Amino acid sequence: MSRDATTRLATCCMISFAVACIVLIPSTTQSVAGKNHRIDRRSVFQFKHNASERQLRMGAEKPSIVNDERDAPRTRPQLRTSKNYNVAFDPSKYVCGDPLVAECVNKTHIFKARVLSEFRRILKDSFEDNNYYRVNYNKPIFNGESELCRLKRADVKTLSWRDPPFNWNELGSYFPLNPLFKERNASCAVIASAGSLKGSRLGGFIDDHDIVMRFNHAPTKGFENDVGSKTTVRVVNSQVVTKAEFKLLTAKLFRHVSIAAWDPGKFDQSLDDWIKNPDFNLFENFKKYREKYPGSNFHLVDPRSIWRAWTALQDKTHTKIMQNPPTSGFIGLGLLLPACRYIDMVEYIPSSRMNGLCHYYDSEINSACTFGSWHPLAAEKLYVLSMNTADEFTTYQRGVVRISLGSSHDGC
Ligand SMILES: *[C@@H]1O[C@H](CO)[C@@H](O)[C@H](O)[C@H]1NC(C)=O
Ligand SMILES: *[C@@H]1O[C@H](CO)[C@@H](O)[C@H](O)[C@H]1NC(C)=O
Ligand SMILES: *[C@@H]1O[C@H](CO)[C@@H](O)[C@H](O)[C@H]1NC(C)=O
Repeated sequence: MSRDATTRLATCCMISFAVACIVLIPSTTQSVAGKNHRIDRRSVFQFKHNASERQLRMGAEKPSIVNDERDAPRTRPQLRTSKNYNVAFDPSKYVCGDPLVAECVNKTHIFKARVLSEFRRILKDSFEDNNYYRVNYNKPIFNGESELCRLKRADVKTLSWRDPPFNWNELGSYFPLNPLFKERNASCAVIASAGSLKGSRLGGFIDDHDIVMRFNHAPTKGFENDVGSKTTVRVVNSQVVTKAEFKLLTAKLFRHVSIAAWDPGKFDQSLDDWIKNPDFNLFENFKKYREKYPGSNFHLVDPRSIWRAWTALQDKTHTKIMQNPPTSGFIGLGLLLPACRYIDMVEYIPSSRMNGLCHYYDSEINSACTFGSWHPLAAEKLYVLSMNTADEFTTYQRGVVRISLGSSHDGC
């Protein structure tokens, strides 16, 4: 299915992106959810902020979403805000509407080069990593496969009641009998929660897809023009499942949608160990939800497959990446691969509307949401771009990357 002509991404990027330097700042993270109270010390990347800029403290218990550093299941780095509008986030400089006009081609090209060079620069930066998840990675299982084939082989999936230990244990008795997706040839859309969706007017385009995937508690109500109104599946992290503020059991947004919840456990951990000691104990609310709504399609993601996706990322990245789980967006992409004939990832790669806003539904400004500090976000985004079959205008002006899975495209 190559309806979109493809322009593979040129690899040159000459314009450097003077957003701000990344510096290492030890940060204190607090999780104050009752018995989970703890203080973790971790080092995270932070965009050095301009001292004259306002500092917004991250809402300590706000949930995480795709593209968001707060996606961190266990610890949430406390990030300072970077509000470098003039340098980094200036839609008026790059937004344009006509791919046939030379000036627009220019703007798009320049924007793309800046974004790519920023991601590549981030990848090269060194960082401190306390390896909280006990990642044990030696060398790539790299054998020349494409990114798409490598991610397919990671086989990101939900746990099945058929597989040990769930075929006999108590938890397994709560698993739905049906798979997460019955589709095999669907048109799919992955909707990032990025602030640059604001003003995109992509709602109609998004709703036209068979499967529309959203993340955590990202709303549609009030944002239909830009993000659409259809949701078929939500990928949620274990904090969203666990913490009362997200109202998993009662919020409308979690009803009548399929749900895939993930918790990273530890790298190389057995399922038995994970069940005893998840990052956040999502099992109780999972069981409650399944009890309350027996017909629901709520699944748990196999944590081992999350780390296989991480390994695919590391295999295809030439520098060492953060030893933290990938974002919900990347996990969701992995889950979708078998179900779709193509996947449109909306605003996963920042478009020219990029404005420094973390989410379309609140007002936090933080460039780390776009460029990453806790997740291996830069690696993820470059990985996704290498699978992109959409042209430059579609990618960077509309904000849509297409991953084509029809037979002509994947020779895996
Ligand atoms: C910091 O931001 C202010 C206001 O946006 C700007 O005038 C100033 O030049 C910036 N300083 C640096 C070092 O970027
Ligand atoms: C496009 O960019 C080139 C160099 O970056 C410049 O010389 C040219 O005038 C630009 N064209 C338009 C139409 O903006
Ligand atoms: C998948 O769907 C497309 C569009 O509806 C159709 O043209 C194609 O034949 C389908 N492929 C398979 C294998 O069913």
